[in-house]
Amino acid sequence: MKPKTLGAWIIIFLCCLPNWKLEAEAKNNFELQTDNFTCSSEDVNSRIIKEYRCGISKGSKRRTWRMEFMLVQPVADHDFFMKIILPRRRPLTDFVLLNVTTDGCQLLANRNQVPLMRLGRNIMERFSNFPKQCPFEANVTYYIRGFRLDLNLLPAVDMETPVHVELSYRSKQQGLRWISGYLKASVQRISDKKHPK
Ligand SMILES: *[C@@H]1O[C@H](CO)[C@@H](O)[C@H](O)[C@H]1NC(C)=O
Ligand SMILES: *[C@@H]1O[C@H](CO)[C@@H](O)[C@H](O)[C@H]1NC(C)=O
Ligand SMILES: *[C@@H]1O[C@H](CO)[C@@H](O)[C@H](O)[C@H]1NC(C)=O
Repeated sequence: MKPKTLGAWIIIFLCCLPNWKLEAEAKNNFELQTDNFTCSSEDVNSRIIKEYRCGISKGSKRRTWRMEFMLVQPVADHDFFMKIILPRRRPLTDFVLLNVTTDGCQLLANRNQVPLMRLGRNIMERFSNFPKQCPFEANVTYYIRGFRLDLNLLPAVDMETPVHVELSYRSKQQGLRWISGYLKASVQRISDKKHPK
């Protein structure tokens, strides 16, 4: 599969859609497993961000990840970064699937020029309470949450691999990444025995 195609799928997995039922012609025994989701902030003096929390919760069936933050002051102009890396064993260098920086306000308003990002933004609609346009307000708890997804629902995934995703928001005015999230996941083969009934 072409890296770009995989990238598109990964974005879709990360963003969401537990309920999409795609008719897969052939069953794939793979799933994307979220292993860890942590975050950090460069804003050590809390000039922009008041509180944030990231993590995964292990539900009985579905492991979900979640990022939450509250700002001290509204943030209008900002950049959004997203990087998707498939780590590889040395001496190979890690495979960079996606590495983009984009205008955050355009992304919120869905005027982004990169189709993949537009797609991601559309899907995210259901899984975040982000504003539809700038600014991010102060004193509002914003969240994004994602879901584990059985790749069984999707055709065309045919590899086992770890996946690292990094995303961050940077205020243009302050020049600080007020929040960065790091997701570790892996595309895993599900053995038939463990396959959910
Ligand atoms: C998640 O990652 C953080 C930071 O790398 C680490 O401290 C923590 O132990 C990890 N948690 C799990 C469950 O792997
Ligand atoms: C991602 O892109 C930025 C700027 O475009 C660059 O500085 C950085 O080295 C890139 N990172 C990777 C892992 O390719
Ligand atoms: C946010 O809430 C704090 C405490 O409730 C208040 O002092 C501050 O003025 C609020 N900021 C904004 C921009 O509404």
